[in-house]
Amino acid sequence: MKNLKGKTAIITGSGRKGGIGEAIAVLLAKRGCHVVISDIGTATGKNFSKSHIGTTSEMKSIVKAIKEAKGSAIAIPCDVRKAKSVKEMVDKTVKKFGSLDIMVNNAGVGYIMEPFEEFKEASWDAVLDVNLKGAFLCSQAAAVQMIKQGKGGSIINIASQAAKSGFPYAAAYTASKHGMIGLTRSNAVELGQHKIRVNAVCPNHITTGLGHWQNKFFSDKLGLEYDDYLQSIKDKNPLGRTGQVDDIAKAVAFLASNEASYVTGEAMNVSGGEEYH
Ligand SMILES: NC(=O)c1ccc[n+]([C@@H]2O[C@H](COP(=O)([O-])OP(=O)(O)OC[C@H]3O[C@@H](n4cnc5c(N)ncnc54)[C@H](O)[C@@H]3O)[C@@H](O)[C@H]2O)c1
Repeated sequence: MKNLKGKTAIITGSGRKGGIGEAIAVLLAKRGCHVVISDIGTATGKNFSKSHIGTTSEMKSIVKAIKEAKGSAIAIPCDVRKAKSVKEMVDKTVKKFGSLDIMVNNAGVGYIMEPFEEFKEASWDAVLDVNLKGAFLCSQAAAVQMIKQGKGGSIINIASQAAKSGFPYAAAYTASKHGMIGLTRSNAVELGQHKIRVNAVCPNHITTGLGHWQNKFFSDKLGLEYDDYLQSIKDKNPLGRTGQVDDIAKAVAFLASNEASYVTGEAMNVSGGEEYH
């Protein structure tokens, strides 16, 4: 099925192997889309160390794999916290592929967790800057380009179950993801006149690099073995499993396509029935 043939998509935070962004990019490329693998690329300070980010060499290897599968992809490093970097990413994309039709705001920080009484201002800023300000800057730059093109577009925000429910130690993460839903709804209402659809996807737990860190953090907090903690998540899920990166990629491919031409302002749970409001 090549139902995205000729479209161009940017997927932020897609440069980390095994991540949700990589899976989205691979599937959109299979559906015929030109994809931009975008990520911060270079370690900067303790919150963005090499073990937490998509590096430029990982980005290149994801592009190589997509091309080997006959897809179309390029890598563009971008720090979503910086308006200049975001604008350059959009400009380079349009220069290379001629348009921007799909923006997937997937870049996120989910490994800064602290008890609320001790939550540091710097930690709050670090999370909100990537998860919410980053989505704002990328959505804005994408909308400006899509309005200029005059043929509509699709913006998809990768939120979380934490956009609908609260989680301990995760005040900043939970607030940022709830904020993403507000951004989604506001943009859907305002950008509909330009035929730009804006939706969010809300995954539950997926053991990516970030998910693995969260498993360790919460199993330690609860005094459980890592595998027992994972099993406890599966046990409370109506479908009896955790999410897979492909579950999210398929939802994004749907929302990006014409199959979803009357869907906007939606915050779609992809959580095996764990979250349903
Ligand atoms: N894994 C889960 O259980 C889960 C559940 C719900 C939502 N999510 C969300 O899905 C998205 C992807 O997460 P993932 O689990 O694939 O983790 P991941 O760590 O593989 O992906 C996050 C990516 O964001 C990038 N990033 C961080 N700061 C950035 C910046 N300033 N500029 C550009 N890129 C930056 C990282 O380099 C990384 O590649 C995140 O927004 C996360 O909050 C994940």
